[in-house]
Amino acid sequence: MCGIVAYVGGKRAEPLLIEGLKRLEYRGYDSAGVALLTDEGMKIVRAVGRVANLEDKLENLGGLQGTVGLAHTRWATHGGVTEANAHPHRDDRSGICLVHNGIIENYAALRTYLEEKGHRFHSETDTEVLAMLVGELYEGDLERAVQAALREVTGAYAIAVICEREPGTIVCARKGSPLIVGVGNSEFIVASDASAIVAHTTQAVTLEDYNVCKVTREGFRTSTIDDVEITPKVMQLELDLEQIELGTFSHFMQKEIFEQPKALRNTLRGRIDEYEGKVVLGGLTSFAKDLVKAHRVLLTGQGTALHAAMIGRYLMEDLGKIPATAEYASEFRYRNPIIEDGTVVIAVSQSGETADTLAALQEAKDRGALALGVVNVVGSTISRETDAGVYLRVGPEIGVASTKAFTGQVTALTLVSIFLGRRRLMSAERSMMLLEELKRVPERIERVLEQDRTIKRVTERYVERNNWLFLGRGYNYPVAMEGALKLKEISYIHAEGMPAAEMKHGPIALIDEGMPAVFIANRGPQYEKVMSNIAEVRARGGHVIAVATEGDEHIKTVAQDVLYVPDCPDCLSPMLTVVPLQLMAYHAAVLRGHDVDKPRNLAKSVTVE
Ligand code: M6R
Repeated sequence: MCGIVAYVGGKRAEPLLIEGLKRLEYRGYDSAGVALLTDEGMKIVRAVGRVANLEDKLENLGGLQGTVGLAHTRWATHGGVTEANAHPHRDDRSGICLVHNGIIENYAALRTYLEEKGHRFHSETDTEVLAMLVGELYEGDLERAVQAALREVTGAYAIAVICEREPGTIVCARKGSPLIVGVGNSEFIVASDASAIVAHTTQAVTLEDYNVCKVTREGFRTSTIDDVEITPKVMQLELDLEQIELGTFSHFMQKEIFEQPKALRNTLRGRIDEYEGKVVLGGLTSFAKDLVKAHRVLLTGQGTALHAAMIGRYLMEDLGKIPATAEYASEFRYRNPIIEDGTVVIAVSQSGETADTLAALQEAKDRGALALGVVNVVGSTISRETDAGVYLRVGPEIGVASTKAFTGQVTALTLVSIFLGRRRLMSAERSMMLLEELKRVPERIERVLEQDRTIKRVTERYVERNNWLFLGRGYNYPVAMEGALKLKEISYIHAEGMPAAEMKHGPIALIDEGMPAVFIANRGPQYEKVMSNIAEVRARGGHVIAVATEGDEHIKTVAQDVLYVPDCPDCLSPMLTVVPLQLMAYHAAVLRGHDVDKPRNLAKSVTVE
């Protein structure tokens, strides 16, 4: 969602801010802006559309001079996509300028209050209300004005604020939306995530909820909104530039699909004890007893992470031998859920910042559940709010369409299931066999990736079709959902993913001559049933694209196109069967001429409910 970059130091701020915004583009946005403190006061430039449009505008103006500034990419929530609504926003009295990520929930009441005080608004945003409020409360000390304003606010925010009257200062704060402060040599970069910082420094401070940080060239001071001073922890950012650059690939999504073998090797590294047939998960060890005694696992997430959680549900019951459910975090939270003693909630999330998932986690914790996280971003809010967890270790995921995080989540959930299973009913022989097979998943994904050209050719045949079905059973039903989601989000083709058996209960009415139906038809326990579903589609003129197991010759007699994956135990198959679907979605989007890494209307991390 929105991205924040702010700079104070000795360098010219404008190029640095623009470079930071470009690094944050992947988060999703629809307008951008910068504000600089120049010798002639505050200058603000904003543009609808890409950061490149903002750059053009700045160039036409001859560039802005100054060593302190703010920049922002906005993903519209309150008010349309217009220049007036783009950030930064300023107040009308005290020379305050502010960028914001999140939602101020009581903005309407605050706006009425401020209008009664004579303030005039120029946008429809909740952010301008916050800028005016800081200005209204400003009495010569920006840090205090920000603290006072935030005490009046409900909702979520990450903000950075500057003031004409205090030209060497940035004040930033967070609640619910991420914000970190990069600590350089007499220079500081405040940003929504590390990707905007690592080109300049690898030292950073992560702000906690209700923290306020006053940053000057000389140093920084961290406090709460009630002005209780805090000793911050400076941490080392585990991110290098190569990881967030394209290299030889055309898009981040493509790079990340091809990175999966390496990424999953990292997920597995050091976590398999081959001799004992056990899984070693340092993060869970001190909770092992609670996990063994647990009665139920509830997995939750949104989007792709939910699909991984759905596979996790099958894994927990099949391998972990524990009752499990998986459900949308957004629904769980509001249905007054019953959490019995011995419930373990597992929040699955790439970013660790998804607002719905975080809220569900809080709800489950408040009702007494043990909270685990399966998260990629180290130090993210979910990773900090859980009692324990497993990091994916797949590296930064920049493409908005989640790919390597999905296979990383499924791999991590497989490890957790075996970790549990071995402490419950799973034999050493079975776990040894499964772990041996799990270790071979990365090399098997490599074999799937070798078929990229074939996958592209198959995609070309159907790319003009506007309605697709994705069907699978058992472990591969969530994969069907994931295949449909991938296609929808980047190629804008309408697609439905569902259990193959469900098709007969209604969706079969959609099938007409030539409609593509992608079946996950690997050799698993429900293979024969899937064959019957394929026959039903063929009988109605649909075109079947089958993801099948290498060596299956029969499938060629029933499907028009076949994409093969190597044989493996059914419970591990999702990590292989999803790969051709990721590549199909990627090629479809490229063939249709879409911006794969910046799909319309989407944000990488959805930090509002
Ligand atoms: O960061 P998270 O894994 O919590 O994100 C959850 C979803 O927003 C995310 O998976 C989304 O569905 C992706 N665009 C899917 O490609």
